[in-house]
Amino acid sequence: MVDKSENRCDLMMFGALGDLAQRKLFPALYQLERVGLLARDTRILALARDPQDTASVRRQLGERIRHYVKREELETDILDRFLDRIDYLSFDFSDSQGYQRLNDWRANGGGALIVYMATPPSIYGMIARHLRDQGCCNEQTRVVVEKPIGHDLDSSRVINDQLAEVFNENQLFRIDHYLGKETVQNLIALRFANNLFATQWNQNHISHVEITVAESVGIEGRWGYFDKAGQMRDMVQNHLLQLLCLIAMDPPSDLSADSIRDEKVKVLKALRPITSDMMETHLVRGQYTAGTSNGKPVPGYLEEDDATKGSTTETFVALKAEIHNWRWSGVPFYIRTGKRLPEKLSQIIIHFKPAPHYIFDPDQKHLANNKLIIRLQPDEGMELQILTKDQGLDKGMRLRQGPLELTFSETFNASRIPDAYERLLWEVMKGNQYLFVRRDEVEYAWRWVDQVMSHWQDHAAHPKRYAAGTWGPVASIAMITRDGRSWYEDA
Ligand code: BG6
Repeated sequence: MVDKSENRCDLMMFGALGDLAQRKLFPALYQLERVGLLARDTRILALARDPQDTASVRRQLGERIRHYVKREELETDILDRFLDRIDYLSFDFSDSQGYQRLNDWRANGGGALIVYMATPPSIYGMIARHLRDQGCCNEQTRVVVEKPIGHDLDSSRVINDQLAEVFNENQLFRIDHYLGKETVQNLIALRFANNLFATQWNQNHISHVEITVAESVGIEGRWGYFDKAGQMRDMVQNHLLQLLCLIAMDPPSDLSADSIRDEKVKVLKALRPITSDMMETHLVRGQYTAGTSNGKPVPGYLEEDDATKGSTTETFVALKAEIHNWRWSGVPFYIRTGKRLPEKLSQIIIHFKPAPHYIFDPDQKHLANNKLIIRLQPDEGMELQILTKDQGLDKGMRLRQGPLELTFSETFNASRIPDAYERLLWEVMKGNQYLFVRRDEVEYAWRWVDQVMSHWQDHAAHPKRYAAGTWGPVASIAMITRDGRSWYEDA
């Protein structure tokens, strides 16, 4: 049974009228209210520049919540109760005087103070300094910040340094929303609660690993932001490398934040740098052209609204990562992520090595390796492909491959999988950092990504084209085929 009273808090939301807050954060907080996880006295202070009053902001947020939350999950009395928790302050974040009003608001409250910076990272430092100088925070304050933490190692250090001037590392909750996904957390349970896998999880038994995070959407009105970032910074540096760490890390000694994060950092440190002579064999960069998505024609990246002609930003990355340690020596991790691919699909496939001595029909030898398919989204679940004998008197000992299947929604009768932000906000309220990214993780990830980006820059590498609605440039298929393998969909 959860004791909510311990989690009573005051939440200050900077950037409360921005897209992230309205699309993700307030709907997630509403869901916490719905399932009874907000303590009775928890209060929310929405902060933004717009000169509005609390009543009109409550109305606006109520509309957005009605828009983003599924109809069957909307309960008017609960929504009203949730909106009543919200106060609004129209506020210029650069005006130090304004922060006094935060103290006035806080004077009537209690519980832990959580500051959520749903703002551009360039102003995290400024907000932090004002909070300190105006006495709005103390050593118990928890601060939540979003990616991107910089656009490379140097710029991430600047942001991290600015935050560190005011807050200790144990006060900082850096969000990578993939860590809040139910199925991503299940990777920890799968690996460290099942001894069956623990003994197999290394280069003796695994031949290679595939990680695919595909999206069918394009840039969705975010061209300006996305064009500066590209898929490598937007997805690989954070979400994909976090998934890789959870698959590759050694068992932590317990579930504490630092035990888990120490093991993830070791993986990042062991990633083999991709040097310029490996660019052709280990890296593919793509950009979508016009094509079809869900049966409808869609424009290419360069024809999207607000696009700049001739941009060479990548919307697709495929790469072969190698981890230089005992566990993973010789096991490639093929990683692939892109916009405007045929479907929204995040999955990890562990390919096990075949048995050491094969005694069945030689024609079927290619079947003889087990695969563990971990479906992160949609249709969350796991599937272990195993070999059995084909049924029937005439089949002899012919083999066939079939799944041992676990679909979460069916097996556990779970009607609803919470959104990542619900989990993450709830963990911040409990003060638990294990689903958040530590400074050194961010920096080691940048270090690895930076050297790839610098080769692209040095070689003025143009992305390879792929039509919207396909699985990326053919070069990404060639990359894995050269190793005698194929992407799961193509097998
Ligand atoms: C975000 C990226 O972090 O993750 C977006 O900035 C991307 O470009 C999104 O679309 C994908 O998240 P999800 O949860 O929909 O897989």
